[in-house]
Amino acid sequence: MSVETINSESLRQAMVDQLATDHADKGWTLRPEVEAAMRTVPRELFTPGLPVQEAYENRAVITKRRGEENISSVSAPFLIAEMLGQAADALGGLKGRHVLEIGSGGYNASLLRELVGVAGSVTTVDIDPDVTGRAIACLTTAGYDDVKVVCADAEHPVEPGRRYDLIIVTAGAWDIPPAWREQLTDIGVLVVPLRTFGMTRSWALRRAGVGLVSVSERQCGFVPVQGDGAYDVQYVDVADGVHLRLDEGQQIPSQRLDGLLATPRQEAWAGVSLPPPTVLADLDLWLATRIAAAGQEFVVLTAQDVAISSGVVAPSWRFGTPAVLHDDGTFVYRSELRWTGDAFDLGAYAHGPDASAAAAAAGRMVEQMRTWVNAGCPAPALHVVPAQTPDGDLPAGTAVDKRHSRVVLAFTLKEGSPDGAR
Ligand SMILES: C[S@@+](CC[C@H](N)C(=O)[O-])C[C@H]1O[C@@H](n2cnc3c(N)ncnc32)[C@H](O)[C@@H]1O
Repeated sequence: MSVETINSESLRQAMVDQLATDHADKGWTLRPEVEAAMRTVPRELFTPGLPVQEAYENRAVITKRRGEENISSVSAPFLIAEMLGQAADALGGLKGRHVLEIGSGGYNASLLRELVGVAGSVTTVDIDPDVTGRAIACLTTAGYDDVKVVCADAEHPVEPGRRYDLIIVTAGAWDIPPAWREQLTDIGVLVVPLRTFGMTRSWALRRAGVGLVSVSERQCGFVPVQGDGAYDVQYVDVADGVHLRLDEGQQIPSQRLDGLLATPRQEAWAGVSLPPPTVLADLDLWLATRIAAAGQEFVVLTAQDVAISSGVVAPSWRFGTPAVLHDDGTFVYRSELRWTGDAFDLGAYAHGPDASAAAAAAGRMVEQMRTWVNAGCPAPALHVVPAQTPDGDLPAGTAVDKRHSRVVLAFTLKEGSPDGAR
């Protein structure tokens, strides 16, 4: 056994040990079969050219760029573990299942091959021939040449006539094309990183009538879907190193963005005391639905480290913080946390031409946060129905219209009543 092999083996075991610890810290369990697969598949065989230590860092390895944009990667181990866990939980295990992976690289497909066993099958599809070529070479080297690799736009049926128990999408989608639901078996599960309100979550969805309904969700980020399902995300500058991320079709006149952060900051605090495992990604979707239901302009704030260290902004998460642009020029966003010992409080920071209006807007945002905390910090459910579904047939919740579908986000409050926002 060479030094390199021993090194790779020990790095892999250490990476999976850390994944198990991280799952436990979040209150989840790393499923034993997912853990076993990740302890088996040598990730460095899917990152050729990279030093073996870097192959076992818990992050994505970018494999292709177009200009400034990352368009292909070997996904981060923590995200792969979480999504495989979502899939296995939803299907009660993956042994013997037939799987379609959308977005290739080879690593995740090999893990799936381990998980489905000899009775199952794995097809992986990528729109980019460079990626499929690379995936075939890596899969062959790693001994997983029974994974079927297809080069096609997965917006459309991949192997016409075939249905899968699991479709796992490993690129960030904005919509769910009809082919994804139609290719599922009756008990089939779709795991997909889907963007709603400019924020991406990996949703595990089951068939429900003519649509789909979620069984779990995780916060995530992915390179975007390309091809016929591609969508438009714009970043607009609001200060040095501070941007607003606008969703497909969202337009904001530039004069509304002038001097947005120039006035003194007003702040408000919810006055709550929460323990660290609280999933604040759920709060962010809750705020988005409340803001949309109130007819206000919801935007997502992103910031570079330098803008935070220089005090220009202090958002809850620099990669995507919920924010509102009010008609009177007030701008309010969810702030950094305020810690007391082992617990934290939730806050909102606001700027605007009228200081008292800004303070009131921050107060309204923390009121929404208090409502979420008092309701037991509920997680959202997602319903996906065809685009032609009339309003009257939508489930209760906040609806977002896409090209092929209408998606409805709903929170069940503590007393058991789903929120009735439309
Ligand atoms: C994050 S990478 C996939 C990672 C991979 N599953 C792994 O094992 O690490 C996402 C891939 O999705 C592909 N992709 C994007 N849009 C697609 C589409 N419409 N159909 C098929 N593949 C697509 C990209 O070319 C890219 O290679």
